[in-house]
Amino acid sequence: MWMFVIAIVILLCYLVYVDIRKPKDYPKGPRWYPIIGNYTQVSKELEKQGYHHKVWMEFANEYGNMIGLKMGTMLLVVVNGVDLVREVLTRDEFSGRPDGFFFRLRTFGKQIGLVFSEGSFWEKQRKFTVFHLRDLGLGRQKMEALIQEETHDLMEVLKQESAKGPVEIKNAFDISVLNTLWAMTAGKRYNLNDERLNYLARLVHDSFTKVDPSGGLLNQMPLLRFLAPNLCGYNLVSTLVNKITHFISESINEHVDTFDADSPRDLIDMFIKKMHSKSETFTEEQLISLCMDLFMAGSETTSNTLSFAVLYLAEYTDVQRKMQSELNDVLGSRTPTLRDKINLPYTNAVLCEIQRMSNVAPVGVPHKTTCNVTLADCVIPKGTIMLANLFSVHMDEKFWGDPHNFRPERFLNAEGQLEIPDKHFMPFGVGKRRCMGELLAKANYFLVITTLLQNFHIEKNPDDPELNLSGRDGFTLSPASTKLILSARYL
Ligand code: HEM
Repeated sequence: MWMFVIAIVILLCYLVYVDIRKPKDYPKGPRWYPIIGNYTQVSKELEKQGYHHKVWMEFANEYGNMIGLKMGTMLLVVVNGVDLVREVLTRDEFSGRPDGFFFRLRTFGKQIGLVFSEGSFWEKQRKFTVFHLRDLGLGRQKMEALIQEETHDLMEVLKQESAKGPVEIKNAFDISVLNTLWAMTAGKRYNLNDERLNYLARLVHDSFTKVDPSGGLLNQMPLLRFLAPNLCGYNLVSTLVNKITHFISESINEHVDTFDADSPRDLIDMFIKKMHSKSETFTEEQLISLCMDLFMAGSETTSNTLSFAVLYLAEYTDVQRKMQSELNDVLGSRTPTLRDKINLPYTNAVLCEIQRMSNVAPVGVPHKTTCNVTLADCVIPKGTIMLANLFSVHMDEKFWGDPHNFRPERFLNAEGQLEIPDKHFMPFGVGKRRCMGELLAKANYFLVITTLLQNFHIEKNPDDPELNLSGRDGFTLSPASTKLILSARYL
């Protein structure tokens, strides 16, 4: 009996030793505990800092710009600073995406879709989507006309809302942003007050604030969905996935019923045409997953960027007035177009500065090593999740000097022309997994904010003068609920 007990104790000691032993030449980081790894240290620091990206900055002060962690059973390496961040985002060996129960929950139990697929499957899907979205007008005049139309309607709604009192900014842009994306994807637009779409947009916002981008405990212990479905995020994600899948499937069914191979109308039609060619990767499940990825990745980020922009302009009214004066000089009261961008350097500098400071996607989307990789004298095992802290690049004191000050002029040269330091400014990421919707997002951002400033002065609500410019933590940073006064301008 004693021998048995001793054998069990030795076995347990061995398992604990294996569990807490770090791989050879793994990056420096806090000590690992059995089973939980670094969960407690990260949670404790998160309580202090309030934001995950700030936790990584704090750890970097202690362990250097590359931090080696283990979250439960999962190896996680976080890199800070421009050089390491660029290296991780541009080297092929880091171009994988995390996989597992949590990620597959959205995509029929398979590693499909666009954002979290990898390898040749992902390459084919990305190439197809980029090619056909361009065909449908992405980055061209057709896209511009769509955004202008949406923006015009949005201004009418804001005029009505603002006449009633201060306007809620947090979700103000959700539907108009989704409409431009959905026009290209599914050939459809929705009324800006559409209840179902507003509900879906709220669910997306909720899931982005509550869900751990690297999968969290649910990814490692799928059984948690039975034990603590609310706590581990399972209920929220499955409600979101069911509702969006239903919404997208309805659209796809309508397309199938009215499909004409000779005149595809939008991305869904183009995909259905490809499905008819019996290509293995072009399945109905993939079509739903692709649409879901575009819906989520495209709406949340752009809408949050626009809401943050309005908050910053309310906080810095002198900057707002300067932008309005440039817009008066260059455009007068005519509708802004993308060709005007070049003649509005100050306006563009402000838009860049807002993106630099608001950091809507502070660590982008997690990557994964596809083999054992050597990075700056460290060895990172195959399958390690990689987080590239874009926030650390945008807040780098050595480069920006005063990163915590809101100073749009840093994006202007001595002649007052726009000069973007591309190496240090990467809100859309870099490398072959960089954001796919950059052109659409930038066009929306420019056209909506310039039109808004032509139509309104934005001011703080005297009843609630403290603005929270840091937003709420999550997969993306999102503005907290804030009401502002929009007073109509008459040009
Ligand atoms: C201001 C708005 C936006 C910001 C700040 C933003 C930022 C980002 C970032 C940082 C990444 C991660 C890059 C990486 O993994 O290294 C990303 C990926 C992605 N974004 Fe965006 N994004 C925005 C708008 C959009 C829009 C409008 C779309 C829709 C067309 C979109 C679709 C995607 C997709 C599909 C990916 C995954 C790309 C891949 O894995 O190959 N994004 N975005």
